[in-house]
Amino acid sequence: MRAVIGCSPEEAVAQLKQGNPVALPTETVYGLAAPLWDEDAILKVYALKQRPSNNPLIVHVLDECQLKRVAHVNAQAAKLVNVFWPGPLTLILPKKPCVPLIVTAQQSSVAVRAPNAPLFRKVLELLGMPLVAPSANKFQQVSPTCAQHVMHGMGDTLSYILDGGLCPLGIESTILSLLDEQHPTLLRYGPIPKEALEDVLKHSVHISPADTSDHATKLCPGLFKKHYSPHTPLYLVDKLQGFKPPQHLEQQFHQQAAYVFFTRPHRTLTGKEFYLTENEDLTEAAANLFATLQDLDQGHFKSIWIETVPHQGIGCAINDRLNRAAHDRFL
Ligand code: TXA
Ligand code: MG
Repeated sequence: MRAVIGCSPEEAVAQLKQGNPVALPTETVYGLAAPLWDEDAILKVYALKQRPSNNPLIVHVLDECQLKRVAHVNAQAAKLVNVFWPGPLTLILPKKPCVPLIVTAQQSSVAVRAPNAPLFRKVLELLGMPLVAPSANKFQQVSPTCAQHVMHGMGDTLSYILDGGLCPLGIESTILSLLDEQHPTLLRYGPIPKEALEDVLKHSVHISPADTSDHATKLCPGLFKKHYSPHTPLYLVDKLQGFKPPQHLEQQFHQQAAYVFFTRPHRTLTGKEFYLTENEDLTEAAANLFATLQDLDQGHFKSIWIETVPHQGIGCAINDRLNRAAHDRFL
């Protein structure tokens, strides 16, 4: 099978009704969607992604009304929904019995968000029920932010990719657990920073350790230390300007390497330097991050060297993804 890339929400719905998962654009990254109550199609999503069955899926709803059908909504959740939905905020809440256990990997909690992308919302409206949608990449690979990158990663296993152009945010949603209202816990950095959540909650937000400890993995099974990885070895450095590699990596640093700067370097580019933003704009850097990594991974580079970004706002989410993409290659 070779996926068709098209622009018709009606065709996406027709495929979903036939039990075929489809790739849909959200404002963060592309998702691989299946209807919440089609367990066979959900099994296909796990299989297509090669995702372990203990790693639960996010349920995507149209609005608060659909949210209430799938989760128990507490007062803190209601405040956040009011301000940030539709948008890139996923809430972990106690699930209602109608949510199949296959979605939540047998847990009693469910992850829910209302996406803001018009085409995704149109599909939700036409279908009239929530959709599960993990990012449309294979396990531990880079999330796709355009239809062509979905095609490259899993096109030969899908029937339809709904093309919504480039995802404007480019980085997956912020995940906040509100299972204990008195102890809101950030499980994944994303476009909505911790401080913005605290402002609305009038409460401090605890940060779960983003590592491979049993505790973190239990809280959020997808928090693998190695994640978002291109096939090409990726090295993370503090600053590329003036960087001197250790002796054993000198050859790698100089031969067929790509260098990714946070901002445009002040010199003529040789074709091996790339930059995430023209003007030190973290939002632009986030939007370009995964697309840049995917493109470089498909080029002829033997290694990718990338620098960290300022650790503030969405910069925390960028650095989190970079750390995972580099896993033990932080110099
Ligand atoms: O922006 C996004 O969130 C994108 C778009 C497509 O909506 N989706 C996405 O899904 O990033 P996924 O499956 O790639 O990442 C969801 C993360 C996983 O790490 C998973 O373990 C975690 O959410 N998760 C899902 N349900 C959970 C639950 N009940 N408790 C804790 N973590 C959960
Ligand atoms: Mg993912």
